[in-house]
Amino acid sequence: YSLDTGKRIRPILTLASYEALGGKNLDDVMPVACGLELIHTYSLIHDDLPAMDNDDFRRGKPTAHKQFGEALAILSGDGLYAYAFELLARGTDLIDERYRVIQTVSEAVGPKGIVYGQVLDMADHGMPDPKTLRKIHYNKTAKFICAPIKCGAIMARASEQTIKTLEMAGIYLGMLFQYTDDILDVVGEKERLGKTPGKDESADKLTAPRVYGLAGARYRARRYADRAKELFSSLGDKFDIFNSLTDFILNRSF
Ligand code: IPE
Ligand code: IPE
Ligand code: MG
Ligand code: MG
Ligand code: MG
Repeated sequence: YSLDTGKRIRPILTLASYEALGGKNLDDVMPVACGLELIHTYSLIHDDLPAMDNDDFRRGKPTAHKQFGEALAILSGDGLYAYAFELLARGTDLIDERYRVIQTVSEAVGPKGIVYGQVLDMADHGMPDPKTLRKIHYNKTAKFICAPIKCGAIMARASEQTIKTLEMAGIYLGMLFQYTDDILDVVGEKERLGKTPGKDESADKLTAPRVYGLAGARYRARRYADRAKELFSSLGDKFDIFNSLTDFILNRSF
């Protein structure tokens, strides 16, 4: 129910970096890509719970807890989280690569990543503060936009130098991703977004528009996009797709 629809950005990033780096075997990379979408979906189910953002609309439908009750929503998130690692570990070859993928993903989504970002996001911040905003965005979103790109590169056995460049680009792309999400909460339409806009302001969240104003947030989003594209371009024509994906993430309306 909860996996149905969604933009699939994270698995797309994994497949795109795998392909750009010459990876040829979809059977190797697809379980990794799918595992990442399962983790992302778990994070949305839990993010929407009454104890967190208390949202009742997601991906164009009632949220999991609205539809099935809180207990099943919590458990389905737990289940997706665990099942994801089963997929990440699936396969009998590329053992070193899979090991590194699991390390990369668990770091990005655990207490040094999404969980930490979500803890900060829930706190009462008082005054708008750029440093705290950056810490929230970096941990709750950017690390888990970066990790899927890195995982595709690991599975394609990319060089360490390439992985390093992709990590930097991925963080810029991830910061951009959350800027756009924050901006759409102000200017987006419910039908198009598939979730309820205006929630951040009513919940007094620390967001990019709150810290920088709408125009300032848009300006900074474009700067993050430029930085990401500069790095992707430095890796050659094969990474053109990432420039298109960056533009999509900058200009999206959903
Ligand atoms: C929303 O993610 C949560 C954030 C990390 C900002 P997406 O915008 O990727 O949501 P779906 O997967 O398309 O529903
Ligand atoms: C959620 O950020 C980030 C996650 C790690 C799930 P938001 O709370 O802004 O995401 P939406 O707007 O509900 O999709
Ligand atoms: Mg949230
Ligand atoms: Mg939310
Ligand atoms: Mg949001």
